[in-house]
Amino acid sequence: MANDASAVFDTLSPAVSRGSLADPFTPSADSTLWRKNFLLGAATASYQIEGAVNEDGRLPSIWDTFSAIPGKVLAGDTGAVACDHYHRWEADVEMLASLGLEGYRLSIAWPRVMDAAGVPNRKGLDFYKRLLNRLKEKGITTFVTLYHWDLPQHLEDRGGWLNRDTAYRFADYADLMSRELAGTVDAWATLNEPWCSAYLGYGNGHHAPGLANDRFATQAMHHLLLAHGLAVPVLRANDPASQKGIVANIGRGTPNSDSAADQRAAHLFEVQHNAWILDPLLKGSYPQDLFELWPGTEPLVLDGDMQTISAPLDFLGINYYFRTNVASDGAHGFRDVPLEGVERTQMGWEVYPDGLRDLLTGFKKTYRNLPPIYITENGMASDDQVTDGHVEDTQRISFLKRHLAAVDQAIKAGVDIRGYFLWSLMDNFEWAFGYERRFGVVHVDYSTQKRTIKRSAELVEKFLKERKAKA
Ligand code: FCB
Repeated sequence: MANDASAVFDTLSPAVSRGSLADPFTPSADSTLWRKNFLLGAATASYQIEGAVNEDGRLPSIWDTFSAIPGKVLAGDTGAVACDHYHRWEADVEMLASLGLEGYRLSIAWPRVMDAAGVPNRKGLDFYKRLLNRLKEKGITTFVTLYHWDLPQHLEDRGGWLNRDTAYRFADYADLMSRELAGTVDAWATLNEPWCSAYLGYGNGHHAPGLANDRFATQAMHHLLLAHGLAVPVLRANDPASQKGIVANIGRGTPNSDSAADQRAAHLFEVQHNAWILDPLLKGSYPQDLFELWPGTEPLVLDGDMQTISAPLDFLGINYYFRTNVASDGAHGFRDVPLEGVERTQMGWEVYPDGLRDLLTGFKKTYRNLPPIYITENGMASDDQVTDGHVEDTQRISFLKRHLAAVDQAIKAGVDIRGYFLWSLMDNFEWAFGYERRFGVVHVDYSTQKRTIKRSAELVEKFLKERKAKA
């Protein structure tokens, strides 16, 4: 990759990252991240790590179905084995604790814990009970996502998120989980990234269940947000001590030129990626510009839905990865105009930490009732190799440092940000990209399931130790 990025990497030779020169990760002395109460953790998701898809009564999910269709996932990969975490969870928790990580964000596989009639599956529930109890024993703060995309296939067979009934089934599931797990969960997130579920799942078909229709996307989004809104009071009633929130992915859109048309295109990009989710949650209404972009796609909204959806949150989880440079498409919308000569990751995503800072400070202005924020995912994929038992993930170290600096800047600008979770604890099944894209701070050899701590994780551990020592 001959671009600006090489200049950054050249300054971070392997010798540097082995610690012989200045530490390339540790935040600057004046960073707010030295505050002991800023939670630093790592995140995973059930389908991406668990494997054991046919064990202990787990039912099929839409991702089992989708990944079995040739051409949907790179190299025909599926989550059937993944990181085999279902069997290796004890060692994985030890690894998490040994890195000194203070928080762990995981998700529950809905198809593992109840059947089509809503009858609880004890074996599935026991897995999560054991896992959460162990995390509690280790003093690790737990963030549990109820829905990180693995919808039971039997619900998809009845329309999935296009069927309003799925929102009520989700509330039943939230009821079961919060009754069973109350006391072991510090924070519940109802959904992970409804944008991806609605748009990639029902709007362009890149994700399960693979449908492609804008009208479907807006209706699926409405039912997802309704599911969230119905679940929040249930979680509050069953587990009052925990925090309740939702996780949204956000995208930065920048205009390719100063022209009014391109400025408008960048605005519409952010409406489609951010306001589509955040406006209903925080303002109780959909952004009307969305329907300028996608005319005639207004979802069916029943009386009271928007009040249900906009119930107050204890926290908002934010996932941030990259920015998109856009221009007007000459009609109602925008088109991507990839920038040349910028640093990119293995995903091809541009590394753009300022986008995180600018979006967060922008949200503070736009949403007067913005809840406290946790960065629930941030990280990058690289083609990491194990050499002599080590992984020198130089670009990731630099990426994390720069994004944590952006978080610090947003905090200093007045945004209430309480924590940050690395995506991901370990390499895993990266959805439509299968196992080729490695996002972990721990390397996984899928042929042996051997975990190797990458250099990035060692440096995070070192920082956390130093922070603890200072406290
Ligand atoms: C997010 C997902 C997460 C992971 C990262 C790279 O959109 O929430 O599961 O795949 O992207």
